[in-house]
Amino acid sequence: MSRVGTRGLALNEKLLFEHSDPGRIGYSLPNLDVPPASLDNDLVRDGLDGFPELSEVDVVRHFTRLSTWNYGVDSGFYPLGSCTMKYNPKINEVACRHPRLTGLHPKVPVPLAQGALELMYELQQDLAEISGFAAVTLQPAAGAHGELAGMLMIRASHEAQGRKRTKVLIPDTAHGTNPATAALCGYDVVPIASDGVLRAEEVRAHMDGDVAGLMVTNPNTLGLFESEIKQICDIVHEGGGLVYCDGANLNALMGIARPGDMGIDVMHFNLHKTFSTPHGGGGPGAGAVGVTAGLEPFLPTPMVDKTKQGFVLDYDRPQSIGRLRSFFGNFGVMVRAWAYIRSMGGEGLKRASELAVLNANYIRARLEPVFHLPYQTRSLHEVVFSDQDLAGGCHTLDLAKRLIDYGYHPPTVYFPLVVKGAIMIEPTETESMEILDEFCDAMIAIAREAEENPELVLSAPRNTRTRRMDETRAARQPCLCWREISDE
Ligand SMILES: Cc1ncc(COP(=O)(O)O)c(C=O)c1O
Repeated sequence: MSRVGTRGLALNEKLLFEHSDPGRIGYSLPNLDVPPASLDNDLVRDGLDGFPELSEVDVVRHFTRLSTWNYGVDSGFYPLGSCTMKYNPKINEVACRHPRLTGLHPKVPVPLAQGALELMYELQQDLAEISGFAAVTLQPAAGAHGELAGMLMIRASHEAQGRKRTKVLIPDTAHGTNPATAALCGYDVVPIASDGVLRAEEVRAHMDGDVAGLMVTNPNTLGLFESEIKQICDIVHEGGGLVYCDGANLNALMGIARPGDMGIDVMHFNLHKTFSTPHGGGGPGAGAVGVTAGLEPFLPTPMVDKTKQGFVLDYDRPQSIGRLRSFFGNFGVMVRAWAYIRSMGGEGLKRASELAVLNANYIRARLEPVFHLPYQTRSLHEVVFSDQDLAGGCHTLDLAKRLIDYGYHPPTVYFPLVVKGAIMIEPTETESMEILDEFCDAMIAIAREAEENPELVLSAPRNTRTRRMDETRAARQPCLCWREISDE
């Protein structure tokens, strides 16, 4: 039975601030065996106002309890489309926690950091080989940051040729970070309609001398391969533009097709997704960027390079867009990516992509008879349904909340925007057929509930610690600081 404290909350639901007991401390120091130092009183604080006073066990239990309320890929299936929530093998964690790597100070002189630089160099080479690009930078800290690096390089390349271009073409399936990046780089965003797949003729119709380039995701956010990509790249190049590929969905292509061979000029990798780092909750990530030889001079500085004397940091890059990140990027994510690539090998990576595609298609085949599938083109690594066929006035959000009752993290909802009521499922390669079947059974059971007892779905989640929240209010009036509420 839980004890009930102030505000009527069970003790195990209280915040640390509410748990505070004046005078309670979490440490004990031995008595002084030297005279106390005399310090200027102005510099000494009596205590921290409003700070919780707790014992060590209070704190440990609080955070351990919170960790058990969390849901992650290590606790269950996480089919969050576009996010590639694959299981991250623990060997990567062991590698990146090696004391010889974690103990390396970022300001250590280059001759004493040869091992770390070698690892970064090898990762650059591996990513270049996987993607078909001439060179890779590891500096950007996330996918969106990689987009910024890429678009700044496109701008720098036009400027180096004395060209001022003002527009960037972006298909309607794009992730929101694409138009945001183009706008941040000072470009006007020109949206292009697709029919699920971007058509070359549509791109041609929008090409003119003001277009700096096109940003395209392949496979796109509907999980469909952009089959006209080669022709599209030719059209953009003929018009003097460059093509940026959002490589967030590379998990569908590893070892099978290379964006560099499709005519793409620059692409970011989401190392934290495709190359296996636990992610979500704000990072850290890494958005390495690959470029063709034509864009290589513009890569951020410094670049890790190999010389006869060993590995170096090359700062002598007069056309570089400059430094994008303090030090050299999120090194731990790079170590995990390196370890993942080494442990998988070329064949293993290819198999991972094949299984990611197979798993998405298995889910598609099982759910297609029950859920509306807006695009019939063959799916790659993810599949997007809509809520059109859900009965009982139930919508995507209701389905997502009900899935929580069944023990699953919901898929991505209401994205991509081209699908009304989108339900975007990305199972990834690490899930077994039993898990996929159990998930599909739950989805089908919910569709049946919507027909027979919609209230069950509309009022979900029912089995969770908190019931359905007012998400609009949470977004419009976020309450992000703790403040004491009186008992009355
Ligand atoms: C298609 C696509 N592009 C870009 C991004 C941005 O990547 P990041 O979250 O690492 O900034 C995402 C992230 O979910 C994505 O799904």
